[in-house]
Amino acid sequence: MENKKYGHFDDAHREYVITDPKTPWPWINYLGNEDFFSLISNTAGGYSFYMDAKFRRITRYRYNSVPMDNDGRYFYIKDGDTVWNPGWKPCRTPLDFYETRHGMSYTRITGRKNDVEASVLFFVPLHTWGEVQKMTLKNLGNEVKKLKVWSFQEWCLWNGATDMENFQRNFSTGEVEIEDSVIYHKTEYRERRNHYSFYSVNTPIQGYDTDRETFVGLYSEKSMPDVVAEGTPRNSWAHGWSPIASHYIEVELQPGEEKDLIFLLGYVEEKQEQKWIAPDGSFSDKDGLDMVINKAQAKKMIADFNTTEKVDKAFAELQAYWDNLLGIYVAKTGNDKLDRMVNIWNQYQCMVTFNMSRSASFFESGIGRGMGFRDSNQDLVGFVHQIPQRARQRIIDIASTQFPDGGCYHQYQPLSKRGNNDIGGGFNDDPCWLIFGTTAYIKETGDYSILNEMVPFDNQPGSEVTLFEHLMISMNHVIKNLGPHALPLIGRADWNDCLNLNCFSWDPNESFQTTENNSEGSKAESLMIAGLFVVTAKDYVELCHTLASKNIEHSTFNAQQFEAEANRMSEAIDKMIAAVKKDGWDGEWFLRAYDFAGNKIGSNENEEGKIFIESQGWCTMAGIGLEEGLCDKALDSVKERMECEHGIVLNNPAYTHYHVEMGEISSYPEGYKENAGIFCHNNPWVIIGETVAGRGNDAWKHYTKILPSYVEEKYQTLHKVEPYVNCQMVAGKDAFRPGEGKNSWLTGTAAWMWYTVSEFILGVKPTYDGLLIDPCLPSTAKEYSVTRRFRGAEYNIHVSNPQGNQKGIKSLVVDGNPVEGNIVPFSEGKHTVEVVM
Ligand code: GLC
Ligand code: GLC
Repeated sequence: MENKKYGHFDDAHREYVITDPKTPWPWINYLGNEDFFSLISNTAGGYSFYMDAKFRRITRYRYNSVPMDNDGRYFYIKDGDTVWNPGWKPCRTPLDFYETRHGMSYTRITGRKNDVEASVLFFVPLHTWGEVQKMTLKNLGNEVKKLKVWSFQEWCLWNGATDMENFQRNFSTGEVEIEDSVIYHKTEYRERRNHYSFYSVNTPIQGYDTDRETFVGLYSEKSMPDVVAEGTPRNSWAHGWSPIASHYIEVELQPGEEKDLIFLLGYVEEKQEQKWIAPDGSFSDKDGLDMVINKAQAKKMIADFNTTEKVDKAFAELQAYWDNLLGIYVAKTGNDKLDRMVNIWNQYQCMVTFNMSRSASFFESGIGRGMGFRDSNQDLVGFVHQIPQRARQRIIDIASTQFPDGGCYHQYQPLSKRGNNDIGGGFNDDPCWLIFGTTAYIKETGDYSILNEMVPFDNQPGSEVTLFEHLMISMNHVIKNLGPHALPLIGRADWNDCLNLNCFSWDPNESFQTTENNSEGSKAESLMIAGLFVVTAKDYVELCHTLASKNIEHSTFNAQQFEAEANRMSEAIDKMIAAVKKDGWDGEWFLRAYDFAGNKIGSNENEEGKIFIESQGWCTMAGIGLEEGLCDKALDSVKERMECEHGIVLNNPAYTHYHVEMGEISSYPEGYKENAGIFCHNNPWVIIGETVAGRGNDAWKHYTKILPSYVEEKYQTLHKVEPYVNCQMVAGKDAFRPGEGKNSWLTGTAAWMWYTVSEFILGVKPTYDGLLIDPCLPSTAKEYSVTRRFRGAEYNIHVSNPQGNQKGIKSLVVDGNPVEGNIVPFSEGKHTVEVVM
């Protein structure tokens, strides 16, 4: 397959520049940082929502339709008989020039046709519940241009799920108001909703439409709506059916002239008593004849962004915000492909993933999944250095959904922060991740006070215990649920949602995630959880020692008790390690699991699925059997059996038929998803395992195979999905088209790639006492530097590797003074650190 190029990186602007709108799949970006978010493709497709993509969907999007990606914020420009869009879709009129620049929380789409340029900047200003769309129209020719411009988008009836289903009701509920140049969407505001949205433009309009059938036509297409074809708006008011928002604006441009039109898509919540306003100006909580919605807040927001100057200022603030975030960890390695991922795109993807969890992308419909317990804890390590306050809140939100026995809801809804069982429960790896997230937070910030926060169980008031106790019961949950080989029972599944050893499902209508979990009498144990437990329990023990030695005050535990707790868990770790060595080692690699009946999974004895990545990753990260050479052997087996051109597959050989005793994993065709796909999320576990074993060359090779900038260079066409971020899964070697990517953007891969490169390859790792410097490099790497802001101090670290070693430092000099060991002790101010390997 020819590797056509659809775009390129522009590192100076931190942008990816797309030069052909017909990308192999829509290449999207995210707007918004806190509450109001939008997805936007390179042809302006996508949608917006407030906080929750399911329950507060603002604009409508229909997934998986033909043509692909056919809803969004569209602008139709009619110039004589030619109608075109700046982003090419939906008209698909060939453009004289097209370019989309995806940047840090903004996208700029520029099109040119017949001497007119339309460039639209899309962004969500900081602390704003709205998306600004600044369109700059320019006449590049010598003649006067008389243009007709229409904006267009569809309103979603708030609930992203029922909007697609409940037509018997929906077709009767839609309501709008129009005042000046603003179209207000107020469906269900008359009853229980206290929120509405609006779409404005900062200039008088010459008409509008709010009813889809009137604007587009019942049997017409968005590529040529009836109104646009005719050239005259119909000033329609939606009553039921499908409300939309379309402004009509006539624009005249002299040769060389340029004009900005500023559109704002906003969201407002109103106090119950002030929802409505009567002609005499009095407020009411009830709708009624003559009542209109209270528009004061909308007007205020519109006034904040109604001039070019104000919008440019807000945009500069957004850029300063990212300058600051991306200034916290800056690597200079002399390798552009590495630097751009470390300094720009990987960190950016981490933030997006943290914001979205697994809810809304072009592969996640925004209605299926809320915030995952394990997912969100892993996402934390990707951005905790940037906005630790938000990590703190997230940890408390997550822990508040835990059960008293340490078990967890698998996910919770961001709007209500309540746990729900929509995608099942009883995943026995879940509790460990709370340790992972919390210790990462404390190491970054030194904020031990979080351990004293009172956190409820299952959000029940009155059930609060300290966060530290949540950590304790999380650990206990593992050691109280051991199976016949003293290894952790798997429950419904561990990290691999699809290894369902207790489900035995024959009913195609039930989900593997929610069907009955027959764990009664089950012998199903997980080596992945065993490794995860050793890693996280070591973190926990280190935390307890630190709390004791620093005499950190805690409402329930004193120093002695923390020490006792450290000892208790150290014993549990030793036992776990012994159990893994005794019954978890298959001869050349770590077993994956025991099934319900106690049979081996991921063993050379098996015909399919002889070896799995998760247990190799976690047991080598844990360093189990490092001294005896078990880690090296396991890592060599990974290379031999699971590595391929595009990364490391999840298992090998792939399952060729459905195994009821294994569940969903064997439901996928060979080479896809959990059945021997390259599940990028877990590749970093092996990479970190390689660094634990000191094998820098192997770590680097595995790392660059899935590093987007390396993939971008070679495989844009084959890979299909965005080349600037990681995707969840790349088709593995057994697939029909190995190397094809899917499920881009929202994946734990982002945080794991970041954690791997920042802490284990470049080796700058926050600890309780300072920064640990422990690089693991390919032998070709001779030097690099990292600037790291840490708890308010700044470290300029320079590492040289004259002999091309892969691991181990020879000397560490801080501000001119030699330091024993490899920890740069924390102190305020600016520091220089010289490291020789
Ligand atoms: C998805 C889930 C994640 C799970 C993984 C493997 O990425 O979000 O929680 O661990 O699949 O099944
Ligand atoms: C499916 C997917 C898996 C995902 C899970 C979440 O099992 O294969 O990747 O984590 O659904 O619901």
